[in-house]
Amino acid sequence: MTGNTKSVYSRKNPLHAKISKKELLTSKIKEKKTWHIEIDLVDSGMEFTPGDSLAVFPENDPNLVNELLQVLNFTGDEIVITPSKNETNLRNALTKDYAITTPDKKLLNAAADKANNSTLKELLSPDNKKDLIDYLWGREVIDIILENPAAKFSADEFVGLLKRLNVRLYSIASSLSHSPNQVDLTVAVVEYESHDRTRQGVCSSWISERTEIGSEAKCFITPGKGFRLPDPEEDTPIIMCGPGTGIAPFRAFMQERKSTNAKGDAWLFFGEIHEDGCFLYENEWQDYLNDRTLSKISTAWSRDQEEKVYVQHKILEEGQEFWSYLERGAIFYVCGDAERMAPDVDSALHKIIQEHGNKSESEAIEYVNELKSSKRYRKDVY
Ligand SMILES: Cc1cc2nc3c(=O)[nH]c(=O)nc-3n(C[C@H](O)[C@H](O)[C@H](O)COP(=O)(O)OP(=O)(O)OC[C@H]3O[C@@H](n4cnc5c(N)ncnc54)[C@H](O)[C@@H]3O)c2cc1C
Ligand SMILES: NC(=O)c1ccc[n+]([C@@H]2O[C@H](COP(=O)([O-])OP(=O)(O)OC[C@H]3O[C@@H](n4cnc5c(N)ncnc54)[C@H](OP(=O)(O)O)[C@@H]3O)[C@@H](O)[C@H]2O)c1
Repeated sequence: MTGNTKSVYSRKNPLHAKISKKELLTSKIKEKKTWHIEIDLVDSGMEFTPGDSLAVFPENDPNLVNELLQVLNFTGDEIVITPSKNETNLRNALTKDYAITTPDKKLLNAAADKANNSTLKELLSPDNKKDLIDYLWGREVIDIILENPAAKFSADEFVGLLKRLNVRLYSIASSLSHSPNQVDLTVAVVEYESHDRTRQGVCSSWISERTEIGSEAKCFITPGKGFRLPDPEEDTPIIMCGPGTGIAPFRAFMQERKSTNAKGDAWLFFGEIHEDGCFLYENEWQDYLNDRTLSKISTAWSRDQEEKVYVQHKILEEGQEFWSYLERGAIFYVCGDAERMAPDVDSALHKIIQEHGNKSESEAIEYVNELKSSKRYRKDVY
């Protein structure tokens, strides 16, 4: 396998990079917003390998910060200490340093005590873990404050009850050999309604919708352990399955394969909701097919017909060829949704091995375990 990533940049010493391009890839449709983001590494020499991710420090939504300040009766000018022990004003700290969406248990306990909220106290008892998770689903810090108006806090006390605002990871969608000094990302904006409010994911909405060209993006590389291309000189085939934003590392893979003139076959499974409007990077795949960097692409458009069609259906449809790739020593890469897609693709893989490899259920499990231990079945799922 190729590539090892070492970097001087880290969580404690992030690179201050710059957003250099933003493009809404799904502008034709209403159901989701997926953005192509380019980040200029400002001649830092920051290195990475296809398969790595970028850790990004986001900022909270200023409207949500304003609302919190208002309901808590703060001006925003109060001086507080950040988790890194620096002094700053409360508005800054709530924007850049503290998590103001995900409530910490410390905040829940303090709100329950101060407001004498017996229902919340009950939910916080160790026997009610599942009920607490259900209660918290779709609730943010602002909801806890609004639901407990009798709970009053000083500014210091309030930030002491919040978690640190953490980085979010994004699979890198470009290769340095294709775009030196640059990182591309493919970001789906998290947006949902709960308790009569529209909520947005902190980082996906910040990087996509609250930054401008030239805005600073603090970031560092996190190595994609094992999510690596084979040696380009070997003719090991690869199969890539990346529905939605799961496509990101495979764009980096294709750029790298083209620049290294990689030998083996490469087959891509991609799925999205509509062919017209969400065929992410469609022209690039066509070019890679034309110059044989990519051998084959199979697509699944889930909402273009009555029945859902997903990548695993396409994998099953093409079971015979999929099996022949595996028997030729292919590496199978899966990237994207961990909760639903990855387990369904995993069961499709087992089915193919049983059906086309003439194996029993337990032999198929063994075959998959062997694929895993020989690093020929790799997942980058979230
Ligand atoms: C290795 C790795 C690679 C990744 N690569 C990519 C990538 O290439 N592209 C990409 O877009 N993402 C990628 N992700 C996901 C990314 O890191 C973030 O998790 C994602 O962008 C959401 O972050 P956020 O800050 O916008 O949302 P957050 O503020 O973290 O909010 C997300 C949370 O909102 C809550 N939530 C979401 N929907 C609902 C709902 N309907 N009802 C109630 N609550 C809900 C859930 O608690 C969820 O955890 C990757 C993750 C990992 C670990
Ligand atoms: N609201 C949120 O929290 C939110 C928003 C955006 C992304 N995300 C998460 O971010 C990740 C990537 O999201 P994304 O927008 O890139 O893509 P995604 O939500 O994973 O959707 C990509 C494609 O996969 C399909 N899909 C749904 N269930 C599947 C399954 N069981 N097997 C195979 N394919 C399936 C989707 O179809 P259908 O949608 O038509 O079923 C769609 O066509 C996922 O983890 C997702 O859950 C969360």
